[in-house]
Amino acid sequence: MQIIRDLPALRATLGERRLAGDRIALVPTMGALHAGHVALIEEARRRAPLVVASIFVNPRQFAPGEDLDRYPRRERADAQMLEEAGCALLWAPSADTMYPQGFATSVTVGGPSEPLEGAARPGHFDGVATVVLKLLNQVQPDVALFGEKDWQQLAVIRRLVADLDLAAEIVGVPIVRDDQGLALSSRNAYLTPEELAAARALPRALGEAAGAILKGQPVEAALATACARLSEAGFSAIDYVSLRDAETLAPLDALGERPARLLAAAKIGAARLLDNLAVAR
Ligand code: PAF
Repeated sequence: MQIIRDLPALRATLGERRLAGDRIALVPTMGALHAGHVALIEEARRRAPLVVASIFVNPRQFAPGEDLDRYPRRERADAQMLEEAGCALLWAPSADTMYPQGFATSVTVGGPSEPLEGAARPGHFDGVATVVLKLLNQVQPDVALFGEKDWQQLAVIRRLVADLDLAAEIVGVPIVRDDQGLALSSRNAYLTPEELAAARALPRALGEAAGAILKGQPVEAALATACARLSEAGFSAIDYVSLRDAETLAPLDALGERPARLLAAAKIGAARLLDNLAVAR
């Protein structure tokens, strides 16, 4: 696997492959890779012969006081995992390459970026949209793949790509869970074994709420039970457990014709965990 850190080299390499007619798939990441990322690479390989992954811990999507400094960084192990999964090229720019002196642009997506994570982490999605737009411009992939664990991020990126007429196809890849249902996340590394065990209450609470809603329980009551389950399990702060339109992220107080999604964010130990689940009849 080739590792490239500067933009002219990236453009030259990918330009040659594009001229040769190769489709390019991009898997953007912030590193600290796990089986969820491997699933993204595997899906990318099914869609294009040339798979590019990026690793860039994007400072613009962390608010002051968040975990930017302690976010796990282990490029060597990540590179090995990417190579074994069949990734051909790792794009690993420095912060100065991504945001050179004088950088003054920020991309704001309205609509789906506003509630939930947008409200809990002001500025977060501006940082995500800015870096994803840059990555799409840098790599110019035919297809870019993102994990469904960050469902709202995926909705924001789809909105960005549609609104700005970007050519890349955006593909969401289903959440990879451990054997007890916990969604894999780089931030699970912050948890002690006891907290990790307790964190499994999150997918259980969402599954239970989805089942109750499908059986006709009022949404508000099902969400209140889910919050109670999380508190009992030891989650210290519950930012939201909410039923939303799967595309627009508008709140729903009942199931309707359009796809619905349960989304949750809650803190346990030193980690703030996200999860989500389709609620489909
Ligand atoms: O999901 C992530 O890892 C990041 O938010 C992304 C999409 C790579 C942008 O930094």
